[in-house]
This record gives sequence, structure tokens and C-alpha cells, in this order.
Amino acid sequence: MNKEDKYKSLLPQIEALVAGERDLIANMANVVALLHETFGFWWTGFYRVDRDELVLGPFQGHVACLRIPFGRGVCGTAWQRRETVIVPDVHEFAGHIACSSASNSEIVVPVFCDDTVIALLDIDSTDYDTFDETDKFYLEQMMRLL
Ligand code: SME
Repeated sequence: MNKEDKYKSLLPQIEALVAGERDLIANMANVVALLHETFGFWWTGFYRVDRDELVLGPFQGHVACLRIPFGRGVCGTAWQRRETVIVPDVHEFAGHIACSSASNSEIVVPVFCDDTVIALLDIDSTDYDTFDETDKFYLEQMMRLL
């Protein structure tokens, strides 16, 4: 199955899982599990907005940094810009926060509630240039289901 087909098969699964539960953290945990298992990413997780910084949420992978200030790192930048940020080579992203030296590329997708960013999905890959417009398109759709 190619990447697009995997995302297409995940969408209805996520829709069904989320429909039965109103707790956001529980839903985030299952979304992370599905994505991580399906794609075998290095690190898949959420950061939630807590006042003026992000705090670590449900994730799969290695231990990660707990808090990220607004505008800092890839996550804080996506929060500030209010849009998905794709980083083909994290070593070339000024201010990238390295939770793991094995990570080489990354995508961060905001989760909106009404017009406010309430969380960010962060995915790390050990390969360079892992994420593209296909990932952005489907991950943004998934985040709208939360
Ligand atoms: N690399 C992220 C920090 C979080 S970890 O990748 C899990 C960033 O620069 O915001």
C-alpha cells in the first residue's frame, strides 16, 4: 500500500474511533497509535497548548521534551504561523529542538478548535525529506476530526 492509500484507509478508522469518545486526550492517544503503527515513524505525538507554551501530550516513541515556548522550535513555529510546517532536514531549521539525535525530518500540523490552535501533531522521521503535500493534506484532514 502506498502512503496515500494508507492515509485513506486510516481516515474512516479515525472518524469511527473519535465519534464514540468526547475526551480529546483519549482520542489523541488513539490517533497517535494508529499513525505510529501504520507508518512506523520514529516519533509521533501531540503537544497541547498550555497558556503561552506547549506541553507534551499523548505520544509514541522515545521520551521527549516536556514544554516548548510559543514561536520556538518547529512546533512553536507552526503554532505561531497557524499552519503546517514541513521540515525536510531538521538540521537546517533554525531553532529546531532536537529531542532525539536520530530525527532528520519532521512535520507539525496544528489542531484548531474554532479559530484557535489548541494542539499540534508532531511527527519525526529518521529519514530525510519524509513528508510532503500528501502527508500535509491527509494529516490536516485527520486533525479536523478531533
Ligand atoms: N523537534 C520539535 C520538538 C519536539 S520533538 O521532535 C518530539 C521542535 O523543534 O519543535
